Amino acid sequence: MPTLSTLPTPAILIDRVKLAANIRDMQATCDTHGIELRPHMKTHKMVAVARQQLAAGARGLTCAKLGEAEAMLPSGVRAIFVAHSLVDPGQAPRIAALADRLDDLRVALTSEAHLEPLIRLAAAAGRKLSVMMAIDTGLGREGVRDQPTAMSLAARLAGNRHLVLRGLYCHEGHFYGISREELKTQVTAMLDRLDQIRRSIDPALAFWPGCSVTARLVAELGAGRVQAIRPGAYVFGDLSLSQTTGVMPAAAVAAHVLATVVDRPEPGLALIDAGSKTFSSDRTPANIFGQVNDGRDISVVRVNEEHGYLRGADVDALRIGERLQIVPAHICTVINLASQVTVTDGHDAVDAWPVEARGLTQ
Ligand SMILES: Cc1ncc(COP(=O)(O)O)c(C=O)c1O
Repeated sequence: MPTLSTLPTPAILIDRVKLAANIRDMQATCDTHGIELRPHMKTHKMVAVARQQLAAGARGLTCAKLGEAEAMLPSGVRAIFVAHSLVDPGQAPRIAALADRLDDLRVALTSEAHLEPLIRLAAAAGRKLSVMMAIDTGLGREGVRDQPTAMSLAARLAGNRHLVLRGLYCHEGHFYGISREELKTQVTAMLDRLDQIRRSIDPALAFWPGCSVTARLVAELGAGRVQAIRPGAYVFGDLSLSQTTGVMPAAAVAAHVLATVVDRPEPGLALIDAGSKTFSSDRTPANIFGQVNDGRDISVVRVNEEHGYLRGADVDALRIGERLQIVPAHICTVINLASQVTVTDGHDAVDAWPVEARGLTQ
């Protein structure tokens, strides 16, 4: 195993102790409140991490794409929710194969416009598919917009030969932008609204919200009403969770980009060997792509493909060749750019894991 001073950079480091703690803590939160955990694997895309989540007690996995679901099968997962608008009849054989490999495959119904394409797809797959209906809670992406539409869609589903409605779900991604003080009020209002929609259709329907910002609050406030949560980013953490929203302590972040300072072309600026092909183009609302994790004031403020631009009060003390561990703004898009990660015990490299679902966007 190379050490952290000999590992080729840029590299993605996963601290196995912090990863295990994040998995254990979220599972404990769910267990305490009698709620299932169905983590979204889009954050880690790795069989090794899925195995740990399942071993800790996760009831199943959430995926965005069929390719991700297929890639996770070696983890031993038996329940998968594909939380995306599936429409392509060419995917029917893959859906049938997944249904046959799992105890519980669920697909998303994401609007009225999506109903007919989904029925055609289920008919082509030749399997009666369990459906979770998306409800928009403010993100403005997929999801039924209001209660009357949810009720009429449920009525159209009733008795359908190809689809059976099992529950409602939402993704509260817009909560990344609100203050911590406001979060509790907003989550309470969201749970009340969703509960009302559910009761207007069928009180026995499951309800599965999903977002790392709201996960703990939803588990706490939704006990008895929420059946499962589907957070993704909590497993590693990033600046969005530790800084923008502050729902995760910085010390709990388990994933870093290891990068090398390669130039100091002018005072106040250093360049590293990791750019948008490592960090992606996602940044925090403060326009930062990443921040050094050791307390020094050093941020990645701009990226080109293979360069990161470092600025901050401590940049002038950097040496060429120095290695930095950087917390990225958004971990999910970072992992998707890596074919493998280096596992550490906090100090040394101890293992390497392939990112099996990297780039599987189909
Ligand atoms: C449908 C859906 N569910 C769950 C999640 C998980 O959200 P987070 O990464 O904030 O935990 C996402 C994230 O994009 C999502 O799109």
